[in-house]
Amino acid sequence: MTSEKSSDLNSQLNPQLNPQVSSRLTTHEPVMLNEIAQCFTTVPPGVVVDATFGLGGHAKAILKANPSIQILGLDQDADAIANAERMIADDASLRGRLTVRRVRFDSLNTVLEELSIKEISGALFDLGVSSPQLDIAERGFSYRNDGPLDMRMDQRSELSAADVVNNYQESELAGIITQNADERFARRIARAIVAARPISTTTHLAEVIVAAIPAPARRTGGHPAKRTFQAIRIEVNKELEILARTLQIAIDATKVGGRVAVLTYHSGENRIVKQVFRSSEKDADEIKIGSPYVHESQLGTRRVSRVRIAQYPSEQEQTQNRRAKSARLRVIEKDLVGARG
Ligand SMILES: C[S@@+](CC[C@H](N)C(=O)[O-])C[C@H]1O[C@@H](n2cnc3c(N)ncnc32)[C@H](O)[C@@H]1O
Repeated sequence: MTSEKSSDLNSQLNPQLNPQVSSRLTTHEPVMLNEIAQCFTTVPPGVVVDATFGLGGHAKAILKANPSIQILGLDQDADAIANAERMIADDASLRGRLTVRRVRFDSLNTVLEELSIKEISGALFDLGVSSPQLDIAERGFSYRNDGPLDMRMDQRSELSAADVVNNYQESELAGIITQNADERFARRIARAIVAARPISTTTHLAEVIVAAIPAPARRTGGHPAKRTFQAIRIEVNKELEILARTLQIAIDATKVGGRVAVLTYHSGENRIVKQVFRSSEKDADEIKIGSPYVHESQLGTRRVSRVRIAQYPSEQEQTQNRRAKSARLRVIEKDLVGARG
């Protein structure tokens, strides 16, 4: 990415910066910031994809820690991209080193093709929602702040939480609440939601969920509506459906020595990342001798291997940052085995 190319792209994609939107964004404290920055200091020069750009905290730390890389930041949220545009406009050091695109991350291959990026130096996935998405009541993600039942990370999507809550069949709802959040009272909650229709606000939904959970269980494990809200949000944004294939795209596109790092926050995400990483470790992939520029000593078999890096935030971080409590970091690196020479 040359500097002209990246700034051109930024202005093409987001012709008007929207100060109103970006100024209402609250802060987002990036989880395991130092560990993530450290993780990308050894990758080869080139482009690291931040697939969940958010407020760019991780991206900025990665850029600072490794001067030989550029970041391609993806986010499907208009507010996040408007904010990124402002960051680039305000900070000359980011121009030429940061390009952003408003897409859902499973379009990664298309974006790489459009930008003529053949291989990447790595990728970061910091899954889930950002603090601004939770804090701005009208986004409808929070059971604490009263807002419309929305929960769309991409404001252009058709499916909203209101559709899921008011139109899905009871059995479908129960299935989603079980699969996406391991909620043991899923069937009771689904029945209560159907009985209370129409539901149009987050606080009304939260009340219905709380009332459906037996009183002794309400007093354990955080807010009783938390898991059901998570489950509906995952359904609205198809979060688990697209994760495995996107991780695979990222791993395939990563060059030797590059790394893919994933921060997960719940068991559904954990299961998928573990599966994808495990199967990538098994499936070694032959380097194709398609380019005259590949040196003979580089010919061999590529595979991925796990990287030894802290998997959990420190205790101090877990006490200071609520989001860090459930976080888990997994990193793999593309290796070259059986190289000649
Ligand atoms: C946890 S926040 C990332 C915070 C970021 N690491 C930072 O330091 O500010 C997740 C962000 O990823 C975005 N996101 C989540 N899933 C996405 C997807 N499938 N495609 C694109 N963006 C996604 C959300 O809109 C949100 O802005």
